[in-house]
Amino acid sequence: MQIRTEMVKDYEQVFQLNEIAFGNREDEAKLVERIRASEEFIPGLSIVAEEAGEIVGHVLISGAKVMEDNREHQVTVLAPIAVRPDYQGRGVGGLLIEEGKRRAAKLGFGVILLIGYPSYYPRFGFVPARAHGLELLQFPVEDNVFQVCELYDGGLNGLRGELKYPAAFF
Ligand SMILES: CC(C)(COP(=O)(O)OP(=O)(O)OC[C@H]1O[C@@H](n2cnc3c(N)ncnc32)[C@H](O)[C@@H]1OP(=O)(O)O)[C@@H](O)C(=O)NCCC(=O)NCCS
Repeated sequence: MQIRTEMVKDYEQVFQLNEIAFGNREDEAKLVERIRASEEFIPGLSIVAEEAGEIVGHVLISGAKVMEDNREHQVTVLAPIAVRPDYQGRGVGGLLIEEGKRRAAKLGFGVILLIGYPSYYPRFGFVPARAHGLELLQFPVEDNVFQVCELYDGGLNGLRGELKYPAAFF
């Protein structure tokens, strides 16, 4: 299994992967396309898992802002993540998330935020975000679904305010 940066030649397979993983709907596959076409796209944070020449997993981490009064904090959000159904439950999702965390930290980001399963992401260091002074009003989700992961000691320091998902998400 190779974990590597997504390349243009992977786009079609990544589209199909997202479509299949999310139950044969195109919403997330199209979300990936909109994010790629946006200013918030960070090429090194679109990561694939490749096995025998096939794309079996993909995670996209992109830019977003946390607004605190007049201040703007640059953060990242993870969405979507998809593993091909026949490869699920073997740790591929975990490999993608850990690689994404390493790369985002290396690029200088302090945190990754996401909306996701409370039973899955905490094992990778995600905790409820509202308890850390972060808010999300665009999507009315429960406290344990809106999660944040600090990428290095102090990555969360001084970060407060409302997470604003960019236009590509709507
Ligand atoms: C979620 C997903 C990315 C995890 O990838 P994966 O490679 O299967 O994950 P891992 O092997 O690293 O970990 C497996 C764990 O994921 C959990 N998981 C998978 N789907 C889940 C779901 N719908 N709800 C909660 N947990 C889920 C499994 O229960 C398993 O937990 P366990 O180890 O306690 O048994 C993958 O299952 C997937 O593509 N699902 C469909 C798309 C999706 O829902 N994406 C996430 C949106 S937030």
